[in-house]
Amino acid sequence: MSSNRGSFSGKIGFVLAAAGSAVGLGNIWRFPYLAAKYGGGIFLLVYVALSVTFGFSLMVAEIAIGRKSQVSAIGAFGALNKRFSFLGIMASVVPIIILPYYSVIGGWVMKYLAGFTVGQASEMAQSDYFGNYIGSVGEPLLWFAMFMAITAVIVLFGVEKGIEKVSKVMMPVLVVLILGIAIYTICTMDGAWEGVAYYILPDFSNFSIMTVVAAMGQLFYSMSLAMGIMITFGSYMKKDISIAKSATQIEIFDTGIAFLAGLMIIPAVFAFSGGDESALGQGPGLMFVTLPKVFDSMPGGTIIGTAFFFMVFLAALTSAISLMETIVAMFIDKLNVNRKISCLIVLGICVLIGIPSSLGYSLWSEVTVLGMQLLDFFDFASNSLLMPIVALITCIFAGYVLKPKTLVEEIELSGKFNQKAMFSVVIRYVAPICILLILASSVLSAFGVISI
Ligand code: PHE
Repeated sequence: MSSNRGSFSGKIGFVLAAAGSAVGLGNIWRFPYLAAKYGGGIFLLVYVALSVTFGFSLMVAEIAIGRKSQVSAIGAFGALNKRFSFLGIMASVVPIIILPYYSVIGGWVMKYLAGFTVGQASEMAQSDYFGNYIGSVGEPLLWFAMFMAITAVIVLFGVEKGIEKVSKVMMPVLVVLILGIAIYTICTMDGAWEGVAYYILPDFSNFSIMTVVAAMGQLFYSMSLAMGIMITFGSYMKKDISIAKSATQIEIFDTGIAFLAGLMIIPAVFAFSGGDESALGQGPGLMFVTLPKVFDSMPGGTIIGTAFFFMVFLAALTSAISLMETIVAMFIDKLNVNRKISCLIVLGICVLIGIPSSLGYSLWSEVTVLGMQLLDFFDFASNSLLMPIVALITCIFAGYVLKPKTLVEEIELSGKFNQKAMFSVVIRYVAPICILLILASSVLSAFGVISI
């Protein structure tokens, strides 16, 4: 089934590739707009608390399941227990839903990169630029196609070599750029400190169930959990590399970059909106509307903006590659086709789902599902429905069928596992109960039964 399974070049190789998958648009585009919308500091607090308990445990469980079974996501559960084969299939559906709309947003990033490169910074800094752009039909589709094509070409040539190398250079540069932009905004712009306070200091009056629902969905998304990706990565991982340490490192990378991205964007929103709080609730457009204004106001903004969008493009690309690789590997395993055909099938699916996601902002803006635009709906369906369901069943599988002991043994093959006790409690009790509550509230609110 998995005869020519490659493996990563070493410890740092695995961490880099997994971090390359985890760090992406989720950190830079999605996290800041959710934090802005769902309460600032309180969102941050909930997110970090969930990430060190729940996110960590789930990540460790997935990597261990992958390494133990030695097969990619779709087969891993079945290989360990026949009755759970269905879970592999469910987990594999998630990246199929995410990749197409992820590529649509990857296309937006490319458009901004191209615009900054040819010196259109001040045009792109206009408030209505972004809205007009995604409201047009042809161009967003073109950039979407381009992003997809680049991803596909890389996946066609095989996985690990590329991601490791790109991540190694990209991450530090990205961190330096984000930090620099954040410091510039905070130190030079009026009103930015209020944004820092809103983002860092938890205000419990801003808390709602939605804070937790959004934070948990974001956690899955950002850490690439509940969709088989870490299982696939785990299956490539050598037995002598510490799962617990690697997971901690990936988590620090991932949460750290998300935190910094919020610090870069939220104070800027305050500075440019002149205290108008409704600017915080903009949603998916937040980064694309706010950042060009920052760059436009900065000395050397065109160059910094170009460099920034280039790094975001790389981050998006390494994530998209991991999404596509997971799906391609699954088709190779299951349909017995070669890599080329498998890539073509995935491209076909992406076109089918990606085009409506893009057109949802223009031609088909009238079409909504459960009151959401198409791209938002795909985002909701994966992050707030399917992923919690997969995560819930994964916890049941790991906690009650395999038993934490089995996974702990796998994890301890490669060194100490200090968080062993927390891991078992979270996987068996805390996580399933939390996920269930959250799932129930997001479903009930989507169908209008409760409002949260
Ligand atoms: N974790 C990636 C991000 O934060 C997105 C992603 C989701 C990548 C799922 C792979 C799988 O952008």
